[in-house]
Amino acid sequence: MNWLHRWICSSEPWKRSLETSLLPWALGDVELGRNVLELGPGPGGATDALCRRCDRLTAIEIDSRLVEALAGRLYGSNVHIVRGDASLMPFADGVFSGAVSLTMLHHVPSPALQDRLLREVRRVLAPGGAFVGVDSLGSRAMQILHWGDTFVPVDPAGFGVRLEAAGFGSIAIEVKERRFRFRARRA
Ligand SMILES: C[S@@+](CC[C@H](N)C(=O)[O-])C[C@H]1O[C@@H](n2cnc3c(N)ncnc32)[C@H](O)[C@@H]1O
Repeated sequence: MNWLHRWICSSEPWKRSLETSLLPWALGDVELGRNVLELGPGPGGATDALCRRCDRLTAIEIDSRLVEALAGRLYGSNVHIVRGDASLMPFADGVFSGAVSLTMLHHVPSPALQDRLLREVRRVLAPGGAFVGVDSLGSRAMQILHWGDTFVPVDPAGFGVRLEAAGFGSIAIEVKERRFRFRARRA
């Protein structure tokens, strides 16, 4: 992430927005179960809220500085922080009861890698496990915010087909203002 992005994602207003708006919108009434996976937690704005909803939360983050900071802050909690690439995860098949992705998919640098990530999430979820998330729509403002950073927005219109191709069913996608949310289950 560029410095502006890091600053925003670490800010109190963003954390509040994750906890009170984005996460509840992503989750709705979906139950993630006891053993949950978070993709790309960044500074962990949603991690604190997510770990209260499950027995164990594993968060996979590609940026080692963010991993170090988050692991230090959450040491001794029920959160396990792993440094790794969510499109090639070091987890066994079917181990997680649910998975969450909050504004991270557009940071994965190509549609092919995003599709590999979807297949990986499907692989590590238990049958019937829920995958929910929120992501940003492409816009000029978002391009500027990602100056010098990766920005490959996902088109919600084609995302259902991509989830299906990765092995998900019960797919629901909804666009609201500058974002979209998705819900799917491992078929
Ligand atoms: C915009 S931030 C969102 C952080 C957090 N989810 C939030 O909403 O505040 C995207 C995060 O995804 C991480 N990320 C990008 N590609 C990743 C990958 N392939 N595997 C794991 N994490 C990744 C980035 O390092 C960054 O921390």
